[in-house]
Amino acid sequence: MSELLNVEQVRGVAVLSVNNPPVNALSAGVPEAIGAAIEVAQKDPAVQAIVLMGAGKTFIAGADIKQLEEMAWGRGAGAPNLHALLQQIEDGPKPVVMAIHGTALGGGLEVAMAGHYRVAAADAQFGQPEVNLGIIPGAEGTQRLPRLVGLEKAMEMCVGGKPVKAKEALAAGLVDAIADGDLKASAVEFAATAAKRGGAHPKTREKKAERRTPGTLEEALAAGRELAAKARKNQTAPLKAMEAIQAAATLTFEEGWKRERQLFQECVTSDQCRALIHAFFAERTAGRIPGVGKDTPAQPVSRVGIVGAGTMGGGIAMACVNAGIPVLLKDAEQSAVDKGMAAIRKNYEVSVQRGRFTTEMVAERVGKIHPQTDYAGFDSVDLVIEAVFENMELKKKVFGELAKSTKPGTVLASNTSSLNLDEIASAAPRAENVIGMHFFSPANVMRLLEIVRGKETSAATIAVALGVAKKIGKVGVVVGNCEGFVGNRMMFPYMYEAQFLVEEGATPEQVDRELTRFGWAMGIFEVDDMAGLDVAWRIRKELGHFTEPGARGPLVADKLCEMGRYGQKTGKGWYVYGQDRKPRPDPEVLELIRKMAKEAGIPQREFRDEEIVERALFGLINEGAKILEEGYALRASDIDIVYLNGYGFPSWRGGPMFYADTVGLEKVYERIRQFEKQLGQRWKPANLLKKLAEAKKSFREYDAERSA
Ligand code: 3HC
Ligand code: NAI
Repeated sequence: MSELLNVEQVRGVAVLSVNNPPVNALSAGVPEAIGAAIEVAQKDPAVQAIVLMGAGKTFIAGADIKQLEEMAWGRGAGAPNLHALLQQIEDGPKPVVMAIHGTALGGGLEVAMAGHYRVAAADAQFGQPEVNLGIIPGAEGTQRLPRLVGLEKAMEMCVGGKPVKAKEALAAGLVDAIADGDLKASAVEFAATAAKRGGAHPKTREKKAERRTPGTLEEALAAGRELAAKARKNQTAPLKAMEAIQAAATLTFEEGWKRERQLFQECVTSDQCRALIHAFFAERTAGRIPGVGKDTPAQPVSRVGIVGAGTMGGGIAMACVNAGIPVLLKDAEQSAVDKGMAAIRKNYEVSVQRGRFTTEMVAERVGKIHPQTDYAGFDSVDLVIEAVFENMELKKKVFGELAKSTKPGTVLASNTSSLNLDEIASAAPRAENVIGMHFFSPANVMRLLEIVRGKETSAATIAVALGVAKKIGKVGVVVGNCEGFVGNRMMFPYMYEAQFLVEEGATPEQVDRELTRFGWAMGIFEVDDMAGLDVAWRIRKELGHFTEPGARGPLVADKLCEMGRYGQKTGKGWYVYGQDRKPRPDPEVLELIRKMAKEAGIPQREFRDEEIVERALFGLINEGAKILEEGYALRASDIDIVYLNGYGFPSWRGGPMFYADTVGLEKVYERIRQFEKQLGQRWKPANLLKKLAEAKKSFREYDAERSA
């Protein structure tokens, strides 16, 4: 018997456990092993029923994405065709019970749905997340799921890609029972009873895929397509999933699965699929840091101290208690602590109103935050995150205090977004324990966490930060201590280029339209208004941008700040905002731009849409290449992860560096050289970009060569 499958017999029931760690993916050999074991069990007279489950922490988490990646890049043997296996499972005379714990995702759920019955552990999850990888279910998921849960739920799951929990799956008809206690014992019992009952066992493919709520089929499909267009704007796979589900409702099963297969094939070789699979592995690779491994001694974090109960401190406290980590939340004044706690309660109230949390859940979480004005108890925390005002002297003072009030070995993190971490660390005697943990606002929501490594930061300190990131549901990306770190450093040339475009004849609305058409969640002028024009203004002055002789600095942004137009918070910035807080073009701003440009003698012209995207994006990419060659990011894919999780870069483009690869680095380099000739020194191409373009290589190849 294959090593990929364990087989045992329990009271006349054959129990087959897929054993392909870490997540029991359907890698080559696994479907074959299941098929062979089912055949043996079906023939064995001592076996009355069959249970299929997963060994280790989960049921089957899907097809092997490494195999899909090969397919996406036109290599490898192709995706496994599970049709024969699923039919074999469904058509056998003995009942097959799927016993599911952990996750049944993608191909895993598809296998599960071919069973006659499904028994779930109480904390199991079920999903068709293929759209997250730019594909659709490719092993009859779009055909079987609507037959079990109805069209509406199937559309929600295949288009949204979010898994459902066992209770919801039971209510929807996806599972037959939730195990009471031990899953294997419950499934064996269920299977033995079904065998004893005899008769024909239900085949999913013989059911009908119908609506479960009133209305016509066409209305249901239109709602699904609308969901796809809205929730997954610009993505093709969700719409293809809708086509496949339509086939389930209108064709025979035999015709339907063949249609699904065609649509799957179309998706799996698309740019979007390559980009999304790149992002899947990039996210997991980001956690691999040379010199930081499983054997790095890192104390577990069971309690966190936070200094500063403002916007960020409050959000970070919520992120911690949401993951069950108690927090001591310190601010300087009682009034500031009270204000911070009130903001936290208000945020949670919104979640209750939206049905995300119950009042009991919120009470428990708020109860885990201990508000205080001194450092009492800080000697019992494993990690402190400082989030006081962005001021070096203040931060140094706080780190000096922390060194005295915490126990040796406590990791001391700063949430600074622009200050020099090494200088902050100089105020603490144990600089090896100091690190940057740069959260993004709102910190309880945004997934990105830039983990800033200083000169002295130890491997153990990095391991603690990475561990906490994972525990609180963030994607930790380790970056170096340069100005603006990775994300904000790249943001500056992008933001300035957009402003220069406007000074040369484009409008903020036009630039934002092109950037959102490209796929960004928001245009840069809208982002600027949301973050506050004063914030960038202050940083610009502090960092001394455009102070070098002959440098062209943005004209209008400073002027808007001088006029008190700070963006959304003052109701006016690049745009003007009404009650609905939606941006509207402001003729006053347009007039100001034209007037200032004229005074400065900037020639005016019209811009092609493509040129707008190139100017903004290539500036960002060029800075990314500089960061990479200077070693402030470990990999191009880390930069992608920063942008995908913290800056609203479209996931289906794989991140800015991956996007550059898809354009072709030779073309990117050539355009940047042209911009340098037209627009000057700020467009000097990064050496690394030049090197890769000349060698006809991509950032992906650069990463691969360095990791080999
Ligand atoms: N194929 C190959 N490798 C996989 C995998 C898969 N389906 N799912 C996870 N892995 C790998 C990860 O790359 C990671 O490897 P590493 O340790 O070398 O970095 C390891 O398993 C552990 O993964 P996570 O760090 O993500 O572990 P978690 O415990 O946090 O999460 C999980 C587990 C929820 C299963 C998560 O990994 C996940 O969501 N995986 C993807 C599931 C998925 O998308 N399935 C559908 C695949 S497409 C499909 O099935 C097509 C079908 O319709 C034909
Ligand atoms: P904030 O102004 O909302 O909060 C700062 C808090 O620190 C205030 O409550 C203040 O009373 C408190 N404080 C000041 N001195 C203190 C002291 N000695 N001891 C304890 N508390 C003290 O500021 P915000 O926005 O939360 O920013 C905090 C830090 O996070 C800054 O370093 C900022 O650069 C960084 N950051 C901010 C982001 C944002 O979007 N707001 C994003 C990422 C990082």
